[in-house]
This record gives sequence, C-alpha cells and structure tokens, in this order.
Amino acid sequence: MSWLVTGGAGFIGSNLVQLLVNRYPEKRIVVLDALTYAGNLENLASLEGRENFRFVRGDIRDRALVGKLFDEHAIDGVYHLAAESHVDRSIMDSGAFIGTNVEGTWSLLEIARQRWKPGEGRFLHVSTDEVYGSLGPDDPAFTETTPYAPNSPYSASKAASDHLVRAWFHTYGINVVTTNCSNNFGPWQFPEKLIPVVICNALAGKPLPVYGDGMNVRDWLFVEDHCEALDLVFREGRAGEVYNIGGGNEVPNLRIIEKVCDLIDGICGPGASPRRELITFVKDRPGHDRRYAIDFTKVSAELGWAPAHQFDDALRSTVEWYLRHDKWLHSCRSGAYLEYYEKNYTGR
Ligand code: NAD
Ligand code: TYD
Repeated sequence: MSWLVTGGAGFIGSNLVQLLVNRYPEKRIVVLDALTYAGNLENLASLEGRENFRFVRGDIRDRALVGKLFDEHAIDGVYHLAAESHVDRSIMDSGAFIGTNVEGTWSLLEIARQRWKPGEGRFLHVSTDEVYGSLGPDDPAFTETTPYAPNSPYSASKAASDHLVRAWFHTYGINVVTTNCSNNFGPWQFPEKLIPVVICNALAGKPLPVYGDGMNVRDWLFVEDHCEALDLVFREGRAGEVYNIGGGNEVPNLRIIEKVCDLIDGICGPGASPRRELITFVKDRPGHDRRYAIDFTKVSAELGWAPAHQFDDALRSTVEWYLRHDKWLHSCRSGAYLEYYEKNYTGR
C-alpha cells in the first residue's frame, strides 16, 4: 500500500516527504507535484534512488493521471498539500488559487470517492489558520470552532476547500481529517514569504520590506514540528475532525526581521553597518490581517502533540540552513522570481 503526497516538492511537502520516506520504509511514498514556481525537485534530491519513493510530475486536477496513480500504487492514504500558497500573489491574480485550491481539492476528493469504500483510506487536508480571519490584540486565539471569516483570495480559496472536505465526509463518508496551521518557517521555504525574503535580502545587502507599521502578528511554527503533527493526525486523528496546529510563538513582523538581522550580524559579522539599517517600511498589503494566533489545545489533549522546538533556536538553525544553501537560493531567485519581485515590491 502507498500514500500519495500532493505538493510534495514544495516547502512543507518536501519536509514531510523526507520524514515519511525515512520513517515508513514499508510504505511507498508517491509525490504528485506540478512543479509550479514554488515546487523544486532539488528539495527532494536526498531521496533519489530510495526504494519507497516515487516522484510524478502532474496536476492534481488531472483525473486520468490521479486515478491511474491510485490504481497502480494501491493508494490508501492522501496527504493533500498542493496549493497556491502566497497571499501577495493571490491579490495580484486569483485565478490559479481557485483552480488549484478549490477545483484541485474537489477533483482529488472525487477520485478518493470513486476508489475507496466509505471508511476506507485516509485523506488529510492541510489548511491554514487564515480561514478564521483576523484577531484583535486581546481576542482569544483561534480554536477549531472559530467561525470562518477569510479576508484574502488565498484564504477564501482555502476556506472553500475546507468546506468541500467537510462535505465529502458528511455526504460520502470519505475518511477525512483537516489541519489548520499557523505560519511555518524552516528549510526549503521559497524566498517570497517573510522569513526567507528577509534572510535573502539581508545577505545581499538589499532593503528589508516591512508592510505597514510592521506590527502585524503571526504565530510561528517550525516546519519540523508541523510535520510531526501531520504524521500524528494522519494516523490517529478522528475522522471528520479538524485540528489546529500552532507554534505558540506570537511575534510582530518587525521583531522577526530584527531577530534575523541580529542573527546574520552575529554569524557573518555586521559588514559595513548593522543589517537592521536595511529595514524599510513600504506600503501595506491590501486587506492585511492584523493578528493570527492558534489555540492547539485539542491536538495536544487528544493526540499528545506539542511543538518540540524553541522559536529562537529554530530561527537560528533556519538562518544557518539558508547560509549553507546559497546555490539553492540563487536558483530560486532567478527568471520568473525576479519578475514577481519587481511586480510586488516596485513602487510600493
Ligand atoms: P508551497 O507553495 O511551498 O508548495 C506548494 C506545492 O504545490 C508546490 O510544490 C507546487 O508545485 C505544488 N502545486 C501547486 N499547484 C499544483 C497543482 N495544481 N497540482 C499539483 N501540484 C501543485 O506551499 P507550502 O508552504 O509548502 O504549503 C503547503 C500547504 O500548507 C498548502 O496547502 C498551504 O495552503 C498550507 N499552509 C502553508 C503555510 C505556510 O506557512 N507555508 C501555513 C498554513 C497552511
Ligand atoms: P507571509 O510570509 O507572506 O505569510 P502570510 O501572509 O501568509 O501570513 O507574510 C507574513 C507577514 O509578513 C505578513 O504580515 C505580511 C508580512 N510581510 C512583510 O512585512 N514584508 C514582506 O516582504 C512579506 C513577504 C511579508
């Protein structure tokens, strides 16, 4: 029997696939990924030649292909991570978000419905805390029963996919479980999200763009802690349930950026001047959610999960990882990336 991991060449997917291939040698791990700008086979290079690992390039909406993979590999579990995942891109052009996040999730659920009898198989849908909207400074953290209130095209498309997953459980009995996690950071994150953008620009001596006043708060989760939670919820989570996964680290953006500057100054030396001097306030993101925070009591109480890493240690090891992977970084930041960077940041 085999597990299908969609989006396995992306940031979280590639961290998860490494964990699964190493931890479950008896299972075949089949990665299906379209290799969009965010997917990179180099993220999986360490698994090349491994007996229980297969990579297939393709779109999750290609039903003939997905059906064939289910049949050929006797897929009895799906980790669904494939998505368009960047809020700024969804503001510039939302079409791909509806296509992959909504239609793609629907298409996978339909294949699972055709191939599995009710109660068979396992479908883990990886979603985001952004579906719950924005918190005020004193609001309690998001729980699994917080009403949905998505504010960006990205979060609206993820919310739609969550509703489809829920409906396919209630109507067709597909054995689903959904996780809603907070902002991840760690190795292999594409340099368009805050932490890798800041690391890359700080290393290159370029401006560090802070949207608005820099006091928007995110709840940072180290990707390895997240992958442990996914493994656990996939195996032991109750069918049809939702589990929130958070890092318990609420930090304003400006504070994160300062920490990254200080870490790089400490490791590489400050150069001509401290890197904090590169911090540049730019025009805010439209509809920018002010604060996210996750209450992960449910997954802790039911399944015994809690983040194992301290935030400062994990941030340091992430910065060190990017320093060691300058070739990877360089290959990400070429061609189409430069066009995106121009479009998003110039004139802001
Ligand atoms: P990512 O953008 O790094 O990777 C997405 C992967 O999906 C890429 O490899 C891409 O090639 C692939 N993909 C995109 N469209 C596809 C399609 N139509 N068919 C097949 N493959 C396709 O994303 P990530 O940060 O690793 O996020 C993974 C999941 O976790 C997503 O569902 C995202 O919504 C969710 N999530 C991420 C975060 C975060 O902080 N990164 C936080 C909350 C939730
Ligand atoms: P991001 O990494 O895009 O994740 P998300 O929007 O899904 O939370 O952004 C994290 C926070 O950092 C968010 O408040 C927007 C802010 N941000 C900046 O200030 N500058 C940047 O260049 C980027 C990419 C993000």
